This record gives sequence, C-alpha cells and structure tokens, in this order.
Amino acid sequence: MGITKAVIPAAGFGTRFLPVTKAQPKEMMPVLDKPTIQYVVEEAVEAGIDDILIITGRGKQAIEQHFDKSYELEEELKADGKLDRLDRVQKIADLADIHYVRQKEREGLGDAVLYARKHVGDEPFALLLGDTIIQNGTPCTESLIDEAEAHDTSVLSLERVPWEQVSSYGVADTSDVDSTSGSFPVNDFVEKPPQEEAPSNLAITGRYVLTSEIFELLEATEKGVGSELQLTDAIRKLDAVRGVELDGDRYDIGNIPSWLQANIEMALHHDDGEINKAVEKLLREQSL
Ligand code: UTP
Repeated sequence: MGITKAVIPAAGFGTRFLPVTKAQPKEMMPVLDKPTIQYVVEEAVEAGIDDILIITGRGKQAIEQHFDKSYELEEELKADGKLDRLDRVQKIADLADIHYVRQKEREGLGDAVLYARKHVGDEPFALLLGDTIIQNGTPCTESLIDEAEAHDTSVLSLERVPWEQVSSYGVADTSDVDSTSGSFPVNDFVEKPPQEEAPSNLAITGRYVLTSEIFELLEATEKGVGSELQLTDAIRKLDAVRGVELDGDRYDIGNIPSWLQANIEMALHHDDGEINKAVEKLLREQSL
C-alpha cells in the first residue's frame, strides 16, 4: 500500500482565535517566519508525499495565494539582488502539487474529510490537521506511513496528555493492549469524554493515515458532539486501527497559549542567532 496523497483540512472558523481570524485563516497564523500550514505541508513533503489536497472554505484565499507563484515579488527580489529571500519564496511554490476543494458548510472535521473522497479514490492517504505543527523527535507523518504500510491498516498518532485535558480530545481505548511499545492496536476511541469516563489519556494528535474505507463510514455516520460530523465517530468503525505514540512537540495553533508556546520554543531552536538571543534574554530577565 503506497501512500502518495495527503489531505489537509483547513476550513474551520478558528473561533478560539478571534478577532485575529475574523478576516484571515487561522492556518495562516505565523509561527516565527512561516504560516502554520507551511509547516504542515513541509511535514507531508518530508514524508515523501507530492500530492496534497487542502480543504478550504470561504475567507481562506490567503492559503492558495501563499502556495502560488508570486511573479511580481520574485521580479522585485531578483532586481534588488535579494537572492536568499527569492530562494525562500520560490521554494514555497515548488513544494508539491497542491489542490484545493471548498467545504461549503462548516459541519465538522468528518465532513471536511468527506470532501477529499473524489481526489483520494480507493487509496490510503495521510491526513494532517492544518492548524497543528509537529516538531522535533521522529518525523510524525513519515512514521505513520511506515506503520500503515507494514500492517496494511489505518494508523493514528497518539499523545499522552494531562488527564484534566482529555475532555478536549478524541481518546484511545487501549485496555488489555501493551501501549508502551512503539505501535499497538487500538480497541476503540471516544470523542471528548469527561475525565472520569476516559479510557486512557492517549489523545489523537491531528496526524493520521487512513484507508479509503473511512469515506463510506463517514457517509453512514450521524452528526455527533457539537452537532458536527466527527471523524472519530467514523474511525471507531474501521476494522482495524493502530496507534503510534508521538515522539515530538505538538502545537495546536488554534489556541493562543499553544501558539505562543510554539513561537517561544521554536525561537529558542531557530538557526537565526538574533532570534534565539532575543528570546533567551527575555526568559533570563523574567526568571531573575
Ligand atoms: P478545530 O475544531 O480545531 O477547528 O478543527 P475550528 O472549528 O476552526 O476551531 P474553533 O474551535 O472554532 O477555534 C481542526 C482542524 O479541522 C479543520 C480546521 O480548519 C482545523 O484545521 N476543520 C474543522 C475543517 O476543515 N472543517 C470543519 O468543519 C471543522
């Protein structure tokens, strides 16, 4: 099962980040010098994927413009001899073949994924949430693809989150399973369970490899939590699903604390000395 396509849902309203997201997509929120969705596309490309479908919607045109060629800007940079910057701009348009489809109503992540059905066809595909950045550690999508190919099944990235946060996530039921090994079967999932009912604190992180069976299951799924079509509700019905524990740092850019944390932590590791010096100085002053 060769996996060559990725789907990136990016049609949500981003209400947790209002008013910033009133007129701009949350997936375009900058983390240091790049918009969030560029990190996501780069993760897919690094996993060997060259065909990406982004699910957009009204008000999301900035995403298409970002990945398009920018003739005027390129000409200006060339004329000014700013070749480093020119190179950075050109590379964005050359990352992959990027396709777009618009989700007509915001009816949930499951509904957004259904819009990929025609493009994906009968093949398994990688799914990466457009508002989640994963950095450091083992490249996440690449490791999911390896597992999916080895076991011929759907595979999800899971992360142990603090118990008091489980009610914000889809959570895996791994009872009677050795979930300490690298990859393990998952019995079931629950979407946003109250803490006392959560079967584990292994949360879905926003990276998946799914078999195309998911589309039929989504079609047959009723709207769930929040009156949205929940992807987790369809994943529960897949014949077999495996989990891989995330080895890396995950940032959900859709909420302000996590977005800030991404900027600060990634600034500390940035290869531009000025940027990490500025943050280190700030942190030093704060700890005095
Ligand atoms: P979220 O639930 O975090 O996005 O969806 P949201 O609805 O934009 O967030 P808030 O709660 O209003 O702040 C996770 C991912 O799924 C996409 C989002 O764009 C995000 O990348 N999504 C969500 C869709 O594409 N369509 C939807 O109907 C819902």
